[in-house]
Amino acid sequence: LNFHANKERRYILEVLFNGLRRLEYRGYDSAGIAIDDSLSRHPNQKCPSSSPPLVFRQAGNIESLVNSVNEEVTNIDLNLDEVFYFHAGIAHTRWATHGEPAPRNSHPQSSGPGDDFLVVHNGVITNYEVLKETLVRHGFTFESDTDTEVIPKLAKFVFDKANEEGEQTVSFCEVVFEVMRHLEGAYALIFKSWHYPNELIACKRGSPLLLGVKELNEDKNKNHVFKDAHFLSKNEHPKEFFLSSDPHALVEHTKKVLVIEDGEVVHLKDGGVSILKFENERGRRNGLSRPASVERALSVLEMEVEQINKGKYDHYMQKEIHEQPESLTTTMRGRLIRGGSRKPKTVLLGGLKDHLKTIRRSRRIVFIGCGTSYNAALASRPILEELSGIPVSMEIASDLWDRQGPIYREDTAVFVSQSGETADTLLALDYARDNGALCVGITNTVGSSIARKTHCGVHINAGAEIGVASTKAYTSQIVVMVMVALAIGSDTISSQTRREAIIDGLLDLPNKVREVLKLDEEMKDLAQLLIDEQSLLVFGRGYNYATALEGALKVKEVSLMHSEGILAGEMKHGPLALVDENLPIAVIATRDACFSKQQSVIQQLHARKGRLIVMCSKGDAASVSSSGSCRAIEVPQVEDCLQPVVNIVPLQLLAYHLTVLRGHNVDQPRNLAKSVTTQ
Ligand code: G6P
Repeated sequence: LNFHANKERRYILEVLFNGLRRLEYRGYDSAGIAIDDSLSRHPNQKCPSSSPPLVFRQAGNIESLVNSVNEEVTNIDLNLDEVFYFHAGIAHTRWATHGEPAPRNSHPQSSGPGDDFLVVHNGVITNYEVLKETLVRHGFTFESDTDTEVIPKLAKFVFDKANEEGEQTVSFCEVVFEVMRHLEGAYALIFKSWHYPNELIACKRGSPLLLGVKELNEDKNKNHVFKDAHFLSKNEHPKEFFLSSDPHALVEHTKKVLVIEDGEVVHLKDGGVSILKFENERGRRNGLSRPASVERALSVLEMEVEQINKGKYDHYMQKEIHEQPESLTTTMRGRLIRGGSRKPKTVLLGGLKDHLKTIRRSRRIVFIGCGTSYNAALASRPILEELSGIPVSMEIASDLWDRQGPIYREDTAVFVSQSGETADTLLALDYARDNGALCVGITNTVGSSIARKTHCGVHINAGAEIGVASTKAYTSQIVVMVMVALAIGSDTISSQTRREAIIDGLLDLPNKVREVLKLDEEMKDLAQLLIDEQSLLVFGRGYNYATALEGALKVKEVSLMHSEGILAGEMKHGPLALVDENLPIAVIATRDACFSKQQSVIQQLHARKGRLIVMCSKGDAASVSSSGSCRAIEVPQVEDCLQPVVNIVPLQLLAYHLTVLRGHNVDQPRNLAKSVTTQ
């Protein structure tokens, strides 16, 4: 935050704390903050004061940091009414990669005694060990186990060296450019230094970074373009600037944002901003790099503050499960064309229409994703194969990369990711691009790295998803991929009736999901029965193999109960050995082409006295229980390819209630992060 108005320090603290609260879903094992200690002088006054900032670091969640800061603030008797003309504060919430959650491993990381340079970092520095060795040889002592600590220390090293060599006052930007030259890996960084009061520098490579601009008394019609340095001067309206790796921390302040590109540096100074680009070796001056300025327009965030509040719900996951009828409606809005008396019903996907011919000519389609996004792709695979006639293969992003699996120019590679920032998926995307495949992105995050790096794609428009366990994004992803299948297959006359039936099914899908959400109490009741179990198996096949995997993933990630999704066709080849009268087993047996096979699976499980929970279509409860006792969950029947959207809902509800009843953290499950931007 670069603060330009007569406000007090408390305001600055609260803005930073709230920003952290908004980002807590991405990491929550430790947090830290750095704010200016002394009063910043107005730039017209000579000699702005320079003194080390106040730094607070705390293990645990954001509220632990808030409490400790508040205690300290009282203890050191800060004058909260001091007036700041400018203020540059930074804060961070962490999901540990290198080093346990502890104050010394929390960010801001420091250059050492005196906190000359402070850095907050999202990402991973892969060459930190080499850098650390060099810095240790130059007398630096390291306190943390983090990869990040090399960054402020490197900044101090560059700064000291330039001063020793008599560099005519090295600028903050020059220091950061030089640091960036040595860093390998992925990062979004913000630097703060008391040698440069009223300044902040942010830069990125690989990890996301947004700059938000809030114009106090702004002229709404003015379309700002970032031109040369300091396009916003002190003479214009006062402004607040926000830097964040995620729009959630910005939206309550401003919707005007600039998506920072790799290699760019944002320089906030005295109430103004400039965006500069790193110019490798050629721009170097006396050993330091010289920046070139960048020109780009601000974009507008399509996100409302209400979307990132819990509303009437206790947890984000609960809210996101229950808002699926609305999120699905938004996903489909404007994309289903109802046709007329002679015109067929069809789909229109603006981001894909110019590439459909190329996709149809592909030798194969490869779905690539991680976690829930992978499962959503798996759920959509059968309909894509059916309607396109193209072989569809599935790749878990990290596995594709590990194997360096073959990807060809004739392939269409579809990258599915809620956040659009998952490091494994991004790496696979770079790999597929390098191999010449057409890359299609399916993400929930406009402006995300995957959205920008793919050749074309579709946004799922599910709205902000904050619960770490993905729910509404999953169902919207499936719906988008069904629409993609419809679009690719739209040139085939023979499947027109089938396609129109699916479109009708899509139009009615929000109603069906509304209906299935009425099972909430029933699933809570079931959760009560399962509360003390060690494990839950989930069997599915065909369209609902993915439902089994995703249902089990939901249960294990939030309720911390072991759960495994199993392809029912594989039951006889191993899992059957686990079956007894104690182990709860869920079987998905809704009506589709696999129904009779699932009936025989149920019979075989009954024969071994399995403890069954069967999900079946409305009206089938009696028949699925005919060969033995079981608990039936009846769900509305829809088109086979849409059934996974309906079927996952009771399992989401079950996972949610199990978690609450078992007393675990619903929205921030142990050890997990919403968006895994490190490998
Ligand atoms: C993490 C999250 C999962 C998510 C996966 C892929 O593991 O905890 O909920 O499914 O990443 O994320 P993406 O944003 O690429 O869909």
